[in-house]
Amino acid sequence: MEEERRWHWWQRAVIYHIYPRSFADSNGDGVGDLEGIRRKLDYLTWLGIDAIWLSPIFRSPMADFGYDISDYLDVDPTFGTFEDLERLIADAHARGLKVILDFVPNHTSDQHPWFLESRSRRDHPRRRWYIWADPAPDGGPPNNWRSIFGGSAWEFDAATGQYYLHTFLKEQPDLNWRNPEVQAAMLDVLRFWFTRGVDGFRLDAIWFLIKDEELRDNPVNPEYTPDQPSYRELLPVYTSDRPEIHEILFRMRQVANAFGERVLIGEIYLPVGRLVTYYGCPHRRELHLPFNFALLLVPWEARRVGAAIDTYEALLSPDDWPNWVLSNHDRPRVATRVGEAQARVAAMLLFTLRGTPTIYYGDELGLSDVPIPPERRRDPLEQTIGPGAGRDSCRTPMPWDDSSGAGFTTGEPWLPLNPDYATRNVAVQRKDPRSMLSLYRELLILRRAEPVLVVGRYRPVPAPDDLLAFLREAAGRRLLVVLNFGGHERTFTTSRFTLRGQVLLSTSLDRAGEIIESGLVLRPNEGCIVALRE
Ligand code: GLC
Repeated sequence: MEEERRWHWWQRAVIYHIYPRSFADSNGDGVGDLEGIRRKLDYLTWLGIDAIWLSPIFRSPMADFGYDISDYLDVDPTFGTFEDLERLIADAHARGLKVILDFVPNHTSDQHPWFLESRSRRDHPRRRWYIWADPAPDGGPPNNWRSIFGGSAWEFDAATGQYYLHTFLKEQPDLNWRNPEVQAAMLDVLRFWFTRGVDGFRLDAIWFLIKDEELRDNPVNPEYTPDQPSYRELLPVYTSDRPEIHEILFRMRQVANAFGERVLIGEIYLPVGRLVTYYGCPHRRELHLPFNFALLLVPWEARRVGAAIDTYEALLSPDDWPNWVLSNHDRPRVATRVGEAQARVAAMLLFTLRGTPTIYYGDELGLSDVPIPPERRRDPLEQTIGPGAGRDSCRTPMPWDDSSGAGFTTGEPWLPLNPDYATRNVAVQRKDPRSMLSLYRELLILRRAEPVLVVGRYRPVPAPDDLLAFLREAAGRRLLVVLNFGGHERTFTTSRFTLRGQVLLSTSLDRAGEIIESGLVLRPNEGCIVALRE
């Protein structure tokens, strides 16, 4: 019985993803920092979220803006001090908010002391901490592996005459996770932060952690088309999703379990059938939440979205807890992908599906990707893959108010503000009861008031045209969610149950309390949550 089960905090929680460079700048250098985040905790509790996940804040030369770490145990001065982080954790906890950090285990910075030692000479004990290989007979790279960020995944080190592997930038050498010393050192990093009160980790690029021991060539992708990035020319058979990864995730899980209620979330872009293997087996659990990017990748059509949800739900075992994501710091924002009107529908979907939702900062304002002039682009992918490949547009500063730095900074923001920041900002939307921000907040209030939205069963309901409909059910309570993915008015009817009840929330925020006696009329781009009468 659901009601008797004990729910973990990370099952009930709504996670809020912060890109720290862009959330709030407390010292006027144009880059967000930890103290800035701390000063916004009241906003986050007002919004109604339960946990924050911070993209990496550790020491880093910032070749990939923090995803290249040179010290896992300290805070980068850009973001503040170790004490700032401790204060942020303490103040978040005082408000009942959990803190999730971003752990980047696949690679370090090329400036990490481990790598400096590793590259210093072939017989250095740290040599085996990274993946080094001799040149091919022609002097070229050891095999055909590609970097996701463009070009070969191998970089030649002239001083020692070997190549090292980098799945991402050449400034991000891959650690050798087959080496037990690497495993021990990295598990100690997790322990270090768990001891300091961190509630969980998002594990970066986790499906790449182990590579083929024999360094076999990746096969050609028969479906490759030249408009795709060159990385797609090969299938990453020998460089990702290797069987040995599961043993390592099991060990990480044991570390997390030793600290009580902690969460491990994994960044994994794989077909759902493979994705769900990262939950682990019944007696060897791995990740609590392998990120499910279905909503971020699926074409935004009612049928396609419905099929993606049903496929995922069908693959989960009773032990596996679902989760949902609309945007992140690597992909176009939801408002850009689906348009602002549908972004409201997407928000309602995110918070009414079964499972833990993650919000990307700024999505609650309906923020779109911001066009960045070439001279202000900062993401290294602009160079390594090519112009336009950068991810800056979805990483722009959070607009708090209409002042010159949008309340984000008193200095010059590191990336341009959204051009409409004078009207699209937190202060303006807080005052507008129909704003996107108000919709997010109302949805989160409803989620708290209606446990069925958190723990209830999910049951799809057939619906015509552009409509997507489903029920959430728990003992004594049945909510119907109907979403109109199209630009035309539609009427939802069903023969499966008696359609009588009361509207709890519309994406337009103007129908709460309306009594439904038979058909539910949905305006263009409208979604509704209806409490069905028993
Ligand atoms: C992940 C991160 C991305 C980063 C990459 C390399 O995909 O989300 O931002 O560039 O890993 O660490």
